[in-house]
Amino acid sequence: MIPIEKLQLKEVSSTYSSGEEKLPVLDRVSLSVGAGEFVSVIGPSGSGKSTILKIAAGLLNPDRGKVFIDSSDITGNPQLVGYMPQQDLLFPWKTLKQNAALPLLAAKTKKKEAYARVEEMLPVFGLEGFADYYPYQLSGGMRQRTALMRTMLIDSDLMLLDEPFGALDALTRENMQDWLLRIWERFKRSALFVTHSIDEAIYLSDRVCVISERPGKNVLEQVIELPRPRKKELLTTEKFTSYKQMLIDALSVKS
Ligand SMILES: Nc1ncnc2c1ncn2[C@@H]1O[C@H](COP(=O)(O)OP(=O)(O)OP(=O)(O)O)[C@@H](O)[C@H]1O
Ligand SMILES: [Mg+2]
Repeated sequence: MIPIEKLQLKEVSSTYSSGEEKLPVLDRVSLSVGAGEFVSVIGPSGSGKSTILKIAAGLLNPDRGKVFIDSSDITGNPQLVGYMPQQDLLFPWKTLKQNAALPLLAAKTKKKEAYARVEEMLPVFGLEGFADYYPYQLSGGMRQRTALMRTMLIDSDLMLLDEPFGALDALTRENMQDWLLRIWERFKRSALFVTHSIDEAIYLSDRVCVISERPGKNVLEQVIELPRPRKKELLTTEKFTSYKQMLIDALSVKS
């Protein structure tokens, strides 16, 4: 069977310029996410992971290489995808509910219905009772969950998530991982997920891509053959530990 690719980055290179200075960030990075697949990207800080997601969303035009979504060349053309940037980017003058409802309102959903859908989701994200709070009245984790909830309300089957659980405490983080997997399984979405946590990458993914330090290059692509639905018991299995060792070794390779 020929795999159906949802997202493909082909030999993408990117450089940021500030004045005369040129900063090469990505060097011919290729990666793909199959339809319904969960793929994680790990790599050192500053290796270009967030840049990969910006390029995948069409928000940044790479110097070379191409990006395809559903086999269409979208390189440098912003797409309606479930993109959650690393900073939560909530509007400070809007309440939690108004922030979360933005993608629905942008898609011309009636205000009443949009707010009702947000209200419905609040308990799932542990935000019940906070609908009318402004971002400054929420904790860092709550703001991050609001941003994640908003991303989930975007009507796209491709999710690009940039360290969505970075600001959460360990327990909330574990709950959110299981919750994300349930959403992903239920809605058959395709996910490209950036994380610093090797455990999180293995636990969630069908495949993990390791990127070298800047300029980011492909170092390793590891298929994770662990049964689904994933359970926390997997974290202590021999197979999990051997994946972990492989990824640690790949991360320590110098570019
Ligand atoms: N808009 C920009 N202009 C100039 N340089 C930038 C810009 N955005 C990122 N960079 C630089 O590009 C490099 C890669 O940044 P990027 O945010 O993609 O890394 P990252 O792998 O996501 O890092 P982290 O794990 O810390 O989030 C860094 O050295 C950063 O300083
Ligand atoms: Mg980043």
